[in-house]
Amino acid sequence: MCDSLSQADPNCSNFRLHEEVLGTMNARPSALFDAFKEDHAVLGRGLHEISEYLRGGDLLAAKACGDRVDRQAGAHIAFEEQFFYPTLRRLLGDADVDRLYHEHGQGLSVIKALARLPEGAPLSEAERRTMLQDSEVMEAHVAECGELFGTMGRLPPVEQDALYRELVALREKAPRWTELAVKAETKKK
Ligand SMILES: [Fe+2]
Repeated sequence: MCDSLSQADPNCSNFRLHEEVLGTMNARPSALFDAFKEDHAVLGRGLHEISEYLRGGDLLAAKACGDRVDRQAGAHIAFEEQFFYPTLRRLLGDADVDRLYHEHGQGLSVIKALARLPEGAPLSEAERRTMLQDSEVMEAHVAECGELFGTMGRLPPVEQDALYRELVALREKAPRWTELAVKAETKKK
């Protein structure tokens, strides 16, 4: 059940796209690229599995996978929302970056819904469809990361190094994705 989350899949089409982008941009990808790529593989695979389980109606497996994604993707989501996306605003503009945040919100809603779901509880067809749609939106979001690699390459090396340090620090803290949302909601009050 969701066993492969911790392994990157070099055969995945998203990965091939990443490698092509990296290849045209930088013969020796930086530590930031490697870490970013690795995180995206974990998140992409986890979301793909959640969508598959939801399609097949295996809610117990979807819930277990959601819990794992919650733990494993928290640092990556925090890195993007707190450091990378604010940097992207000056390169991509507000509209694109606002959309990226919104898509994270849709992904988070799936993780939260799965966490709240009591084991063995029934799920209405409408709820299952909504969760599947949100998971698919977040999957597409992750698949777009090839474009972000190109944008990341336009940042000065010193800025890339600083971003990498933030990512490493967040990986050490290893927050849950759902904890980030609680913090954000608390901040607004
Ligand atoms: Fe993202």
